[in-house]
Amino acid sequence: MPSATLFIVNPPAGILSVSLAGITLRNPVILAAGTCGYLDEMNDVVDLSRVGAVVTKSITRLPRDGNATWRIVETRCGMMNAIGLANIGVDAFARDIAPRVARVPTTVIGSIAGFSIDDYVAVAAAMDDCDAIQAVEVNVSCPNVHGGTEFGADPRALSELVRSLRPVLSRARLFVKLSPIANGPLAIKDVAKAAIDAGAQPAGPNQRPGADAICLANTMPAMAIDVHTRRPRLANITGGLSGPAVHPIAVKLIHDCYRAVAKDSGTPIIGIGGVLSWEDAAEFILAGASAVEMGTSLFVDPRSPLKVAAGLETWVRAQGATGITELVGGVKLE
Ligand SMILES: Cc1cc2nc3c(=O)[nH]c(=O)nc-3n(C[C@H](O)[C@H](O)[C@H](O)COP(=O)(O)O)c2cc1C
Repeated sequence: MPSATLFIVNPPAGILSVSLAGITLRNPVILAAGTCGYLDEMNDVVDLSRVGAVVTKSITRLPRDGNATWRIVETRCGMMNAIGLANIGVDAFARDIAPRVARVPTTVIGSIAGFSIDDYVAVAAAMDDCDAIQAVEVNVSCPNVHGGTEFGADPRALSELVRSLRPVLSRARLFVKLSPIANGPLAIKDVAKAAIDAGAQPAGPNQRPGADAICLANTMPAMAIDVHTRRPRLANITGGLSGPAVHPIAVKLIHDCYRAVAKDSGTPIIGIGGVLSWEDAAEFILAGASAVEMGTSLFVDPRSPLKVAAGLETWVRAQGATGITELVGGVKLE
């Protein structure tokens, strides 16, 4: 992959600036994987220099057509998708997209997906070669492909994956994006702990033995049926639910993960799921997230991330805090 000159994203040390494993973002509002094109396509409608970061579409080793249509449907409280990781594959990404990364006026996080450890390692290595990609978000939680949640649903397999990825990432930080299904007998703290404590040999100085950040969470496995035709509304039969319906689930996952493992290990959490307003983002911050990603909201109002950032700024001041990081995990439980 051609190595790009690093675009110096120089965020002001403002009230909203946050640090994710040593990467400083100008604000904690991030555009979520798969909902904003491959890279910078949203720049026409939302000024990317005013968001904290953008996550690329999930990239796999080989190109994928994805699932048959319909693969997105609206539901009463959000949307369901079964895109099936449609993407151009890592070679085309390296050739056609990576050279543009250095010109994107915000932090770029590269999302990777795969079906085996070798798949993930190949894509992670290509992302690490692109100097301007500051972190890799490992999607172990896609519910729309066969095997898409395997690593995310098995703490031992996840540890092994993180151990294999750690040495490949000489520079880019390693973020792990988990599934919301770990909310019952398989507790999110166990899956997050497996990623954080993977026990890898760090490749360079200042690297950890496991994940640098935990992203919570991907879409929730779900299904909708057209009662007139009696057919599933998605060609894939099932899909992933996102939007307002999943927001309270994500708040609990963040709260549980922060208290059980993230806080003590100093691992930042990126909260994802149904952030449409600044209040939704503030809830994530209070539950323990250091930053938030927005996906479904972009389909409703592509400029909503800017409104969320503005609302957060007013909120932080009203709370009497000097910076948003003071409010991370600040929910009052007594
Ligand atoms: C149409 C669509 C495509 C998505 N594609 C990806 C993807 O490629 N990789 C990924 O990690 N998550 C993907 N997601 C999940 C989102 O990044 C996010 O985790 C999820 O939608 C929950 O956030 P939200 O409620 O703000 O949308 C996708 C979501 C949607 C709606």
